[in-house]
Amino acid sequence: MFSFSSSGLLLLSFVSLALGQTYTKCQPLNTTCPPDDALGTSHDFNFNSSTVLAQGFDTTIGEVGYGDNGLEFTISKKGDMPTVVSNFYIFWGSVSVVMRAAKGQGIISTIVLLSDDLDEVDWEMMGGNATTAESNYFGKGNTTTYDRALYHPVNSDISDNFHNYTTHWTSDQLQWWIDGNLVRTLQYGDALGGRNYPQTPMTVRMGIWAGGDSSEDPYTIEWAGGLTNYNDGPFTMYVQSATVTDFSNGKQYAYGDHSGSWQSIQTIAGNSTIKDTLNAPPPLTLAQKWNNLSSGTKIAIYASAGGGGALLFAALLFVCIRQRRKGRQERDAYNAKIEAEREEAYRDQIQLREKGLGGWNKKEYESQGEDALGGWGGEHVAPGTKVDGDGISPVYHSPASPGLRSPVPGRARTMSPGPLVAPQPQRAWNGSPQQGSFASYGGQRSPQSPNFPLASPQGPPQGYGNGYGNGGGYGNARGGYQRF
Ligand SMILES: *[C@@H]1O[C@H](CO)[C@@H](O)[C@H](O)[C@H]1NC(C)=O
Ligand SMILES: *[C@@H]1O[C@H](CO)[C@@H](O)[C@H](O)[C@H]1NC(C)=O
Ligand SMILES: *[C@@H]1O[C@H](CO)[C@@H](O)[C@H](O)[C@H]1NC(C)=O
Ligand SMILES: *[C@@H]1O[C@H](CO)[C@@H](O)[C@H](O)[C@H]1NC(C)=O
Ligand SMILES: *[C@@H]1O[C@H](CO)[C@@H](O)[C@H](O)[C@H]1NC(C)=O
Ligand SMILES: *[C@@H]1O[C@H](CO)[C@@H](O)[C@H](O)[C@H]1NC(C)=O
Repeated sequence: MFSFSSSGLLLLSFVSLALGQTYTKCQPLNTTCPPDDALGTSHDFNFNSSTVLAQGFDTTIGEVGYGDNGLEFTISKKGDMPTVVSNFYIFWGSVSVVMRAAKGQGIISTIVLLSDDLDEVDWEMMGGNATTAESNYFGKGNTTTYDRALYHPVNSDISDNFHNYTTHWTSDQLQWWIDGNLVRTLQYGDALGGRNYPQTPMTVRMGIWAGGDSSEDPYTIEWAGGLTNYNDGPFTMYVQSATVTDFSNGKQYAYGDHSGSWQSIQTIAGNSTIKDTLNAPPPLTLAQKWNNLSSGTKIAIYASAGGGGALLFAALLFVCIRQRRKGRQERDAYNAKIEAEREEAYRDQIQLREKGLGGWNKKEYESQGEDALGGWGGEHVAPGTKVDGDGISPVYHSPASPGLRSPVPGRARTMSPGPLVAPQPQRAWNGSPQQGSFASYGGQRSPQSPNFPLASPQGPPQGYGNGYGNGGGYGNARGGYQRF
């Protein structure tokens, strides 16, 4: 039986192209493309909050939800095929996705590595076959034959349970693992002497589509396990986590020529942007920002906020003294800085007020708990973020016309690959996490400040320790911040 296993996903890349996405815009076998951004590290995307996806992935088609089981890729009607694509590339690496496939005839849940020149490594789970996972690969989009798919038994229902689907990809061999068991190994040389071996920098993609849609060709529908009945839906695939490790360590990957061979790929040295982003400390809390303000600014804020004559006078005096001491230029710069800080502090106050703290009502304050404190003691949540049960990404595009996803004739392009160097000795991998190579991974969150420094006229709330007493007279700012 033929299996047209990859047609859907490869076509997703054409859909992306049609939608003007950047990742597959440039075909490196034909033209000179800008370099690909590297991951350059290892990262564990634990989809336990609605914001994690956006740190490393773009939602290219449809909308991805978030709930207790992590990411939710849902088909509720014809044409739905929510898909995410990493905003980074790996050049050799491993990808472990903990996923619960969608149940439903003809529904395909997928984890795919795809390069710009259409090298591809696949996991495809059929929603009508509870105990089987399919692995597949393509080199340079070569679909002249569809004999590369293999089917692997899984020990419990793939749509009732989460399973760990891992791809481990080196220049020597490709391995597919399910729940820590090696189920398939492809040696470089066994893929048409290397010519069909996936070997160029890959994006990581996850998504769901209906291979059993009536618009698909009969072979695709047969491969998918039969026609999809949308009345049986909605069909949802869940992704709990994705651990992605880039075995190369650079800023970007560039195609050195049009051969598409791995030897032609150049690693541009430097720190990858995405790595810096992933490792960046979380945004400062309001408390931390306040701590960072200069004392002059704090006094000025208190003066204008409290309106206390003495304080205002002190502040003016303070500024005057500073002004006299410094030259004109310096003074202007200083005033500008104070003004900027004041502006920001003002905005923070507005935020605080929006969170219900503006009035400094002690009861309200206590009953609001940590959520009201702008991230204090908990996760910082960006303004406007909905935390529970909501879609995490806006809808970017309406689903592409189904016609686009029918197999595209002539997709297999002719090319003359450059000479490929014989594979290096195999390096076996035993399935344990890679050790040691990414010392700097993670762990750089700066501690959340327990001090909430804006004094309440009622004094510090119980249990928050010293933070409030240190303000050096802030408690005098009677009336406090509700004036803002
Ligand atoms: C690349 O070039 C080949 C022939 O040189 C052509 O068949 C193919 O369509 C081209 N692909 C793209 C994406 O332009
Ligand atoms: C989510 O996962 C990250 C990394 O594994 C962990 O540090 C964080 O505490 C978790 N957050 C929640 C809300 O469980
Ligand atoms: C699931 O797939 C395997 C492998 O192709 C096949 O042997 C089995 O019959 C399928 N089961 C169902 C219920 O389709
Ligand atoms: C595509 O793969 C088939 C075998 O799977 C092979 O016969 C053919 O030569 C390949 N085409 C190219 C352009 O490499
Ligand atoms: C998934 O399986 C791989 C391969 O055995 C293993 O290295 C990794 O730690 C597993 N991940 C999780 C989250 O269990
Ligand atoms: C990369 O980051 C490290 C530490 O984060 C820094 O010391 C180094 O200078 C950076 N390298 C480049 C090329 O920016």
